[in-house]
Amino acid sequence: GDTRGGAPGPRSTRTGRRRNSKVRNNVAETTQQGSGNVADRNLALELVRVTEAAAIAGGHWVGAGDKNSADGAAVDAMRSFLSTVDFNGTVVIGEGEKDEAPMLFNGEQVGSGAGPASDVAVDPIDGTRLTALGMNNALAVIAVADGGSMFDPSAVFYMDKLVVGPEAADMVDLRLPVKQNIHLVAKAKGVKPNQVTVCVLDRPRHQGLVEEIRATGARTRMILDGDVAGAIAACREGTGVDMMMGIGGTPEGIVTACAVKATGGVIQGRLAPTDETERQKAEEAGLDVDRILTTDELVTSDNCFFAATGITDGDLLRGVRYRGRTITTQSIVMRSHSGTVRMVEAEHLATKWEKYERRQG
Ligand code: FBP
Repeated sequence: GDTRGGAPGPRSTRTGRRRNSKVRNNVAETTQQGSGNVADRNLALELVRVTEAAAIAGGHWVGAGDKNSADGAAVDAMRSFLSTVDFNGTVVIGEGEKDEAPMLFNGEQVGSGAGPASDVAVDPIDGTRLTALGMNNALAVIAVADGGSMFDPSAVFYMDKLVVGPEAADMVDLRLPVKQNIHLVAKAKGVKPNQVTVCVLDRPRHQGLVEEIRATGARTRMILDGDVAGAIAACREGTGVDMMMGIGGTPEGIVTACAVKATGGVIQGRLAPTDETERQKAEEAGLDVDRILTTDELVTSDNCFFAATGITDGDLLRGVRYRGRTITTQSIVMRSHSGTVRMVEAEHLATKWEKYERRQG
């Protein structure tokens, strides 16, 4: 999100990922026309090429202090590689509306067009500021699920989130006090509350939350940006993160839902409108803003594919390395239907990559 500071404010149109209800209707129609037959294929293994490309292109801008160029390079690469993947996607979480975003705009058709309709959520760089500053935890991300299955948050850009891994998945509840959720996670993991680490976006709006967490003896892992990486880390063993809590982007929450399904973890969300107008718009769109949204409501499909590649080093993934003739990337590839999580290390011959960049001009 480009809007920084205390209370969440309206997100910029570039990264705000506004959605268009007309687009959603079209998606639903296309879905009904689709065959419904989903071949037993792990599309995420192909989508990883798309996130690798975005990470390599965006990674050139790590630490260069230029968020927009980093994002632009990742978007271009993502779009170009998406066209080589054999599927029928419609971007429902993209870079904004067509007139605001030249590429990967909401409603854009991606892929070869073959097969049943799919919803596509892209985040070419989750952590544009981290990339520009050369800080940890920036990722290139894509999620794909059955057409019409991703939640439409209307105009609400922020969501309160609680993410935990499989051990405590059936125990926690966003409506419970913070202390109780931490105690439940500690119990589920067989540790003491002071051995629980909670990932939280470093924002003034989280001051109260952070105090509540620390009052239980639990530790915080404060992140500057990038709550998709934080959420996935919470669901995986060995990352040092046990939970994620706090308000972040709603699109990132939906992308997270696609990812955590493969891990057996959960995300619970509650829309967090920033003002009365946003609340009213949501209600007019038929949303109950007080409702706790479960993982299955954020993405109804159990056929979710997720791929992410590290741009900078982080708890989850190592960032891109450019060394002489080779560029190395590390990615995570997940499929909910099979419950598989794969780590993919790749070496890319730099000369081949340079050829692609020359073609892009
Ligand atoms: P972008 O890098 O895509 O702009 O988003 C970064 C991010 O930190 C997300 O991971 C998070 O969900 C959101 O921004 C939080 O929004 P804000 O920075 O406005 O609090």
